[in-house]
Amino acid sequence: MDDLKSKYLSQIANAADENALETIRVAAVGKKGEVALKMRELGKMTPEQRQEAGPALNALKNEINSAIMAKKAGLADAALDERLRTEWLDVTLPTRARRTGTLHPVSQAQEELTAIFAELGFSVAEGPRIDTDWYNFDALNIPGHHPARAEMDTFYMHRAEGDDRPPHVLRTHTSPVQIRSMEKMGAPLRIICPGGVYRADYDQTHTPMFHQVEGLALDTDISMANLKWTLEEFVKAFFEVDNVELRFRASHFPFTEPSAEVDIRCSWKDGTLKIGEGDDWMEILGSGMVHPKVIAAGGIDPDVYQGFAFGIGIDRLAMLKYGIPDLRAFFDSDLRWLRHYGFQCLDMPSLHGGLSR
Ligand code: PHE
Repeated sequence: MDDLKSKYLSQIANAADENALETIRVAAVGKKGEVALKMRELGKMTPEQRQEAGPALNALKNEINSAIMAKKAGLADAALDERLRTEWLDVTLPTRARRTGTLHPVSQAQEELTAIFAELGFSVAEGPRIDTDWYNFDALNIPGHHPARAEMDTFYMHRAEGDDRPPHVLRTHTSPVQIRSMEKMGAPLRIICPGGVYRADYDQTHTPMFHQVEGLALDTDISMANLKWTLEEFVKAFFEVDNVELRFRASHFPFTEPSAEVDIRCSWKDGTLKIGEGDDWMEILGSGMVHPKVIAAGGIDPDVYQGFAFGIGIDRLAMLKYGIPDLRAFFDSDLRWLRHYGFQCLDMPSLHGGLSR
């Protein structure tokens, strides 16, 4: 018995891992292990011999079992220590400035304009990119026969024969979110809604998917002067320069009255786009005082509340601010382009910390 004890205790002490330990356990105290075999011999013993050998065998079994448990715990501790030694991470290290992932200029512009409008008291609202033609058109005072439906080169969703759901479109502008926000939040209201919109159009300044940010401010004492001030403040803050020249043009939208479009002075020389100089103008937004019918469609009393709305082209803002001459490249997913025009993703734009660097 002493031989068994010293043999197994030394094997246990030298076991390299849990598997080895298990093998030892089976050989020693398993059902067919050496200790069990010895126990079977008890039956052939005299009662006196048995009285001595029985407890001794049990004690041996217990001793081997607890040696195995202790060794197991030791191995687990050692394994954990090893992991802790190799798998550590110094969270106080500065972030790596490797330019592997970068923010797309549209995302960057969106972060920047959200920061600016947040400062002006606008919160961010969202709406679906696939919407009913009621939200996209009718509620915005664009009835079925209105030429604006054709002008917008709308993508209609396919409808199966007999489908009686309302027709759906890829939203042609972010203006349907005006209605959805009025329905959800009532008045007074101050929201922006940035997001993707769709029109069948393709040239240097048009892509079939592009981005707008809608703005809507409703209250009891809002005038066109508030609209003009807000847009000028925004444009100055966004371009981070004082010499942006804006041109307000009288215009027409079914959902605003009166309406104005705003252009920015720019130049396209030798393949570069520059803001604030030259003889060209780039249209960046449509705006106006919200039509009473639109306010009513949003479930709000137009005799009490009035306000302004605007829709700004985010991609065009990005083109102008970062001098990117062709909009189509924005959506080519060319890694070289993204690396060139992309932004560090850990620099969150803010008015106090700086918008872009
Ligand atoms: N929805 C208009 C467009 O896409 C822009 C706009 C928004 C005009 C809000 C006026 C008010 O052209």
